[in-house]
Amino acid sequence: MASLLEVRDLHTAYGLSQVLFGVSLEIQAGECVCLLGRNGVGKSTTIRSIMGLTRPSRGEVRWKGGSILGWPPFRVARAGIGFVPEDRRVFADLTVRENLDVARQVSRRPGEWTAEAVFELFPPLRPIAGRRAGYLSGGEQQMLTIGRTLMGNPELLLLDEPSEGLAPLVVEHLLEQVTALKRRGLTILLAEQGIAFSLQLADRVYVLEKGTVRFSGAAAELREDEALRDRLLAL
Ligand SMILES: Nc1ncnc2c1ncn2[C@@H]1O[C@H](COP(=O)(O)OP(=O)(O)OP(=O)(O)O)[C@@H](O)[C@H]1O
Ligand SMILES: [Mg+2]
Repeated sequence: MASLLEVRDLHTAYGLSQVLFGVSLEIQAGECVCLLGRNGVGKSTTIRSIMGLTRPSRGEVRWKGGSILGWPPFRVARAGIGFVPEDRRVFADLTVRENLDVARQVSRRPGEWTAEAVFELFPPLRPIAGRRAGYLSGGEQQMLTIGRTLMGNPELLLLDEPSEGLAPLVVEHLLEQVTALKRRGLTILLAEQGIAFSLQLADRVYVLEKGTVRFSGAAAELREDEALRDRLLAL
């Protein structure tokens, strides 16, 4: 079976500073795959390279069998790849509902996601639908950024550090919510430093180290083998 997404031998640099040195990975439809690794190993750069936000100097990105390398981000999004950035950028002056509506208008991809469906997935957003997004808590903003991306009806969701900076209880809820998305059949690529979060969610894992893939395998392997986990991820 052809992969939904295939990344082959990606090399990406910012100016003279090379960050990725031949990253390869693939994702099958319906899978939840996690990119794990410490601070600065290139998780976000890998996701940005897939999304067309940073141009790789070498390598290939294939979506449903065809190359999307060099496509601008809006075109990648329209092809069905939704991106939730690390910095949770919401339109601060727009209300929660307006943020969702704007995303719907921009997307042009038909599908099942409506503001109502987002509120069903993230019930805490419903009572604050009329609040300006600038006044939301970190957890509420994370729900809204994900919800906004869902309004574009993606087939693959790229989630960059969703649990970062959130309180433990909020992270627990987020874990349930993303698990619900996975159960609906959405394919997910998650970048995380938090291994507790990612290992509960992921089917497969790629561990990055200094811009290369150091390990790839079933998430269960890492869940069950503490020594391996320490070797790959200890600070
Ligand atoms: N826009 C940029 N310009 C220059 N260097 C950058 C830029 N973005 C990232 N870098 C550098 O590239 C390297 C990899 O960064 P990247 O954000 O991909 O790592 P990461 O694994 O996502 O880290 P984190 O866990 O902190 O999010 C880091 O050394 C970082 O300083
Ligand atoms: Mg990052």
